[in-house]
Amino acid sequence: MKVLFLNGPNLNLLGQREPEIYGSLTLTDIEDMVREHANRHNVEATFFQSNHEGELVTQVQQSAGSYDYVVINAAAYTHTSIALKDAITGAGVKAVEIHLSNVHARESYRENSMIAKACIGCINGFGASSYILGLEACILHQKSDR
Ligand code: DQA
Repeated sequence: MKVLFLNGPNLNLLGQREPEIYGSLTLTDIEDMVREHANRHNVEATFFQSNHEGELVTQVQQSAGSYDYVVINAAAYTHTSIALKDAITGAGVKAVEIHLSNVHARESYRENSMIAKACIGCINGFGASSYILGLEACILHQKSDR
C-alpha cells in the first residue's frame, strides 16, 4: 500500500512553532516516526510539504492512481480551501484529514473544515500521533474495503 502524507502551510516550522500547541517534534522527526511505523506494516509512505495552496492541489491531483490513500494536514487551508476540497473530490482520492491539535477546542474559525466532506474521516488532537493514527486509519480502511 502506498500513502502520501501532505502537509500544508507553516508545518515546516514544527518544533519551533507554538510548541505548547503543536509539540516539540520537527516535521522531519514526525516523518521518521511515520516511516518506521509504515515499514512495519509494509506501507510505502511519501511526504510533501508546501506553503502554497496550488502546489497542494497539484499533489492531490497527481496522487490519483499513484497512491492508495492521502493523509492530509492541510493546516490553515483546512479552514479556507474550496480548491483542496474540489481536488480531493475531483481526483477521486481516498483521503484522511488529520491535525496535531484539537481544532474543536480552539478558536471557533478552526472548527469548520472545507475538506472534511471530501475525506473518509478526520483525526485531530493527538499531536504527532495523529499522523500514526492517520496511517492506521488507511490500513484499517483498506482491510475493511476488501
Ligand atoms: C493544524 C490546525 C490548523 O488550524 C492550523 O492552522 C495549523 C495546524 C494542526 O495540525 O493542528 O496550521 O492543522
